[in-house]
Amino acid sequence: MTSELISKEGTQVVTLTLNRPQAANALSTQLLKELKAHMEKLQNDKDVRVIILTSAGEKAFCAGADLKERITMNEEEVQEAVLLIGETIHEVSKLPQPVICAANGLALGGGLELALASDLRVFSEDALYGLTETSLAIIPGAGGTQRLPSIVGVGKAKELIFTAQRITGKEAQAIGLCEYAVPFEEVENKANELAAQIANNGPIAIQAAKHAIDSGTHLSIEEGLKIENDAYQKTIRTDDRMEGLKAFKEKRKPDYQGR
Ligand code: COA
Repeated sequence: MTSELISKEGTQVVTLTLNRPQAANALSTQLLKELKAHMEKLQNDKDVRVIILTSAGEKAFCAGADLKERITMNEEEVQEAVLLIGETIHEVSKLPQPVICAANGLALGGGLELALASDLRVFSEDALYGLTETSLAIIPGAGGTQRLPSIVGVGKAKELIFTAQRITGKEAQAIGLCEYAVPFEEVENKANELAAQIANNGPIAIQAAKHAIDSGTHLSIEEGLKIENDAYQKTIRTDDRMEGLKAFKEKRKPDYQGR
């Protein structure tokens, strides 16, 4: 069976590539299972500092649920399939390391939900992005109704979901749906550049910051500040913190080891 997900391991940065370009990289059961297995491995890998999610081909990052598979399913199977997409995409958001989605082509439905579960998004300026599920008489079922409002605001999220419209990468950037919208051929470079910048910083600090931001967003400011303080504690006893101070004093670049 050919792999529908390719993992390329570099120093500190792992790139996962959705590899079904013949089916617009739609999320088949096999692809989801492979993605889930990779998430389980990566969450415990202390050497990995940043994960980049991208796709093969030139047209689509991911066209969402595999609709050809879906049409063959009975209601029970559909429920299982929706659960698998939801769980897998949630696993992406729960990774301790930052995830950068290099969406080098269109992302619809579950494809955009995968991007929303990532920490940072780089889109292709002319490609189309949208939560188009209501046009298929279903709703976003992999976190879209929950994550989109916290990224672009409730009103804009309702507009996008109710109308099922597809917007360009450029428009997505204007509403804060992605951090960068660049020409197609620059998407990968931009994601690599961000990954390299992140990987230079203290890895324990990066994970503590991600945890504090993600866990605090929906709480009161007091509860959020407590989470921030707890997360800060994790950095105090690290060698990396001392390395940062020493490097500053010695006017050199710090060399963080993740300890
Ligand atoms: N599931 C399964 N296969 C899909 C797919 C999906 N979600 N999206 C596209 N494909 C397949 C097409 O069926 C086609 O396969 P074929 O050559 O065997 O017919 C192949 O990918 C290429 O797609 P095609 O439609 O020919 O390319 P296009 O550039 O004209 O359009 C899309 C691409 C993605 C815009 C269009 O296929 C589309 O709208 N797909 C549905 C996306 C969607 O609604 N997703 C939300 C799901 S909740």
